[in-house]
Amino acid sequence: KLYRIAVYGGDGIGADVTREALRLLNAVAQRHAFQLVLTELDWGIDHYRRTGVVVPENFLEILRPHDAILLGAVGWPAELPDHATLAPLVRIRQAFDQYACVRPAWLLPGVPCVLTGKSAGDIDLVVIRENSEGEYVDQGGWLHRGTDREVAIQTAVHSRRGVARILRYAFELARKRKQKLTMATKSNAQRYAYVLWDNLLDEIAPEYPDVASERQHCDALLMNLVRWPERFDVIVASNLFGDLLTDLAGQLAGGLGLAPSTNTNPERNFPSMFEPVHGSAPDIAGKGIANPTAAILSAAMMLEHLGEVAAARMIEQSIASTLAAGHRTRDLGGTLSTIEFTDRVLEHL
Ligand code: NAI
Ligand code: MG
Repeated sequence: KLYRIAVYGGDGIGADVTREALRLLNAVAQRHAFQLVLTELDWGIDHYRRTGVVVPENFLEILRPHDAILLGAVGWPAELPDHATLAPLVRIRQAFDQYACVRPAWLLPGVPCVLTGKSAGDIDLVVIRENSEGEYVDQGGWLHRGTDREVAIQTAVHSRRGVARILRYAFELARKRKQKLTMATKSNAQRYAYVLWDNLLDEIAPEYPDVASERQHCDALLMNLVRWPERFDVIVASNLFGDLLTDLAGQLAGGLGLAPSTNTNPERNFPSMFEPVHGSAPDIAGKGIANPTAAILSAAMMLEHLGEVAAARMIEQSIASTLAAGHRTRDLGGTLSTIEFTDRVLEHL
């Protein structure tokens, strides 16, 4: 089998951690007899310095024929405002209608969870965030702008089609995992938007009799996630609630250095995008100390998406055993460099 991967390492530590993820990908490709054809894209702040633009004008056409996009991180605020460097990411998500943002939070052995005192085995959940509409549709406006009667109106849009497809995505995932789904709602205070979410959960749940589903008001859900993370399997939420829940869940599982993510659309034949949750980390960029785990686990999610499940598991297990053996980068209290840590992971394959 042959897969075409677009590799957009990007800025700061993005390029460094992506390079390490590629070392793992090449190693498992050999062992599992598939081939990766990489298109390495030199986009980002360096491209901007050379050409005046972060990505070429036809960047979406360049990405489209690939089976997946592996992204590092973008952003270099000292030189360009974030909206300029991050705009291509937003356009990728929209053009390829990547409506599901998938963020696993898996507490690995050897990683302390300061917030909950939990240990490995207790936290293994996935947050699914609706990525295409909801509270972030950018609709609204001002009344009496600049006066003391100023009013800001920010509208959320929740469509039956948009909510139903993210709920079905979450049910499908729960079915493959621990058969439990929790939906974030707030229908006690928002009597249109989340009543639609509640109704659709009631409508769709009977299609998945093997999955136990429930809803929790998002404020209580955030609290319960800290108190009882072991009770959760798949959590599904609107764009705004998902934004909050994914950050908290990521921290529960050890923080930014470890958190992978997927942006995907299972129905359409567009490339999905796999990326660490973290950004370009200008404060540690160029020092060779970034934790490559989030990028490596994102590459494993990509392999699973492509159908190379055994290879994906192999990467995940080698990350788990490397951390369990006490090998750590500085963000987790260790001393290893980015490259040294990846060397240990390759040895544990
Ligand atoms: P950040 O995620 O880059 O860094 C936050 C903190 O976490 C920093 O102290 C950093 O050193 C640390 N950190 C992050 N990843 C790490 C890793 N793998 N290993 C060790 N430490 C790590 O967020 P920040 O500083 O707010 O943003 C920096 C730039 O990245 C901005 O331009 C921002 O817009 C952009 N950004 C891009 C994202 C993307 O490409 N999807 C996501 C988040 C931010
Ligand atoms: Mg966020």
